[in-house]
Amino acid sequence: MMSPFTVAIDGPAAAGKGTISKAVAAHFDLAHLDTGLLYRAVGARMLSGEDPIVAAQTLVAGDLENPDLRTAEVAQSASKVAVIPEVRAALLDFQRAFARRSGGAVLDGRDIGTVICPQAEVKLFVTASPEVRAQRRLSELKERGFDTDLDTVLADVKARDDRDMNRADAPLRPAEDAVVLDTSELGIDEAVAIAVKAISAVRD
Ligand code: DC
Repeated sequence: MMSPFTVAIDGPAAAGKGTISKAVAAHFDLAHLDTGLLYRAVGARMLSGEDPIVAAQTLVAGDLENPDLRTAEVAQSASKVAVIPEVRAALLDFQRAFARRSGGAVLDGRDIGTVICPQAEVKLFVTASPEVRAQRRLSELKERGFDTDLDTVLADVKARDDRDMNRADAPLRPAEDAVVLDTSELGIDEAVAIAVKAISAVRD
């Protein structure tokens, strides 16, 4: 059995974490968990009228299949439920168990390197300027058929940054030993190559 090997990838919304996480998971044959989906699933259930703490405590795999999880409305709701300590506590064990599964795992989120897996073998903090992130998110939303504009998306990105960085419990910040990867001026391939190199330095 292979020993656990955890890659923690944190950073603000739309910095490229998801793309980089999927690519490095495929490259190193590691399982991948997008932890934002857990908060989005709780946020979606809150929008349907449920208490967010109860929703987090009773989350089931099917909640992650909800096709609305990627909407801007659910993203804002996710960032709101994410400030509630009891919500974060309810999601902790699942994330930790996933991180230490045999064969290794990549987890991406906001607090993976700082709170969920401070012992992760590799920590990356993927970031980019708010303007670049808003532009990328706008293109992604338009591709998926949502009708929106740059000002709206930029305001959403900044509101979410503010909430994610300034909450008392597990705020978004780089772990002291994280490799910071600013993707503002990088293409996807370049960003993935840097991430692969950082992981190879530890894995190989
Ligand atoms: O990564 P994402 O955009 O899908 O995350 C949605 C929200 O969930 C984000 O604004 C904050 C919250 N989140 C969190 O607090 N901790 C995580 N590990 C992942 C996401």
